[in-house]
Amino acid sequence: MDNKTHFGFKTVDKDKKSNLVKDIFSNVATKYDLMNDLMSGTVHRHWKNEMVKEINFSRQDKFTKEKTCQIIDVAGGTGDIAFRMARKFTKLGIDSNIKVVDINQEMLEVGKERNLHKFGFNNLEFICNDGENLKFEDGYFDFYTIAFGIRNFTNIDKGLSEAKRVLKKGGKFVCLEFSKVNDYFLQKIYDCYSFKIIPKIGELVLNDRQSYQYLVESIRKFPDQENFANMIKNAGFEKVSYKNFSFGAAAIHIAYA
Ligand SMILES: C[S@@+](CC[C@H](N)C(=O)[O-])C[C@H]1O[C@@H](n2cnc3c(N)ncnc32)[C@H](O)[C@@H]1O
Repeated sequence: MDNKTHFGFKTVDKDKKSNLVKDIFSNVATKYDLMNDLMSGTVHRHWKNEMVKEINFSRQDKFTKEKTCQIIDVAGGTGDIAFRMARKFTKLGIDSNIKVVDINQEMLEVGKERNLHKFGFNNLEFICNDGENLKFEDGYFDFYTIAFGIRNFTNIDKGLSEAKRVLKKGGKFVCLEFSKVNDYFLQKIYDCYSFKIIPKIGELVLNDRQSYQYLVESIRKFPDQENFANMIKNAGFEKVSYKNFSFGAAAIHIAYA
């Protein structure tokens, strides 16, 4: 069983999961942003805005052109989090470099296009790399962000230990992920919506029911708030905390390296 893992509700060989995940996001890349708005009724935008509020600075943090604030947005996909952070840094006048890292080149290409035609930030880099095996040196980043990405990893513990490794001592980890709804009746309604409606929307918009079936199944397989917080602690992070949104449908976990 050791070489097996879950892919949604299916059991697959560990060494196959990453390619299966890549296929999912290749299938949905061009309509990924539209689908997020349709499925969540734009609520994902609110969760993402809340996440970016966690990218904050103390008075001692002095970032200059010579010492820019280094951020890695893992599983950054089409750039939703990175664009929000870049906008915030511009507003605050903070020199920053944001590396948008994703295992899927097609998702990154959509992000690059969005930047080129819509945002025009020159402090973003789009890099194809696996979050379980980052190619960056130890202690390089001030912030590590990841939104709706980590539940797709084959080995979440490995992803967390990579996050810890690439962060500077005291650097901040901020993770937004689907989580466990904390009310029995709302959970029932949410289950019904997830399993009956979401795959249907995938079928209608993208002619792809499977990918969205995986999405809802992968959410159910992901550890709840407390268990995920323990995994973060076990990876060596300190001051681990979390905040629930929409009755726990999503949660932001925060920790320091
Ligand atoms: C649901 S999307 C989230 C994209 C973006 N962060 C957002 O919130 O809109 C998940 C992303 O995780 C990426 N991903 C999955 N496994 C990964 C891994 N091991 N390393 C890096 N990225 C990964 C996928 O390619 C996909 O772009």
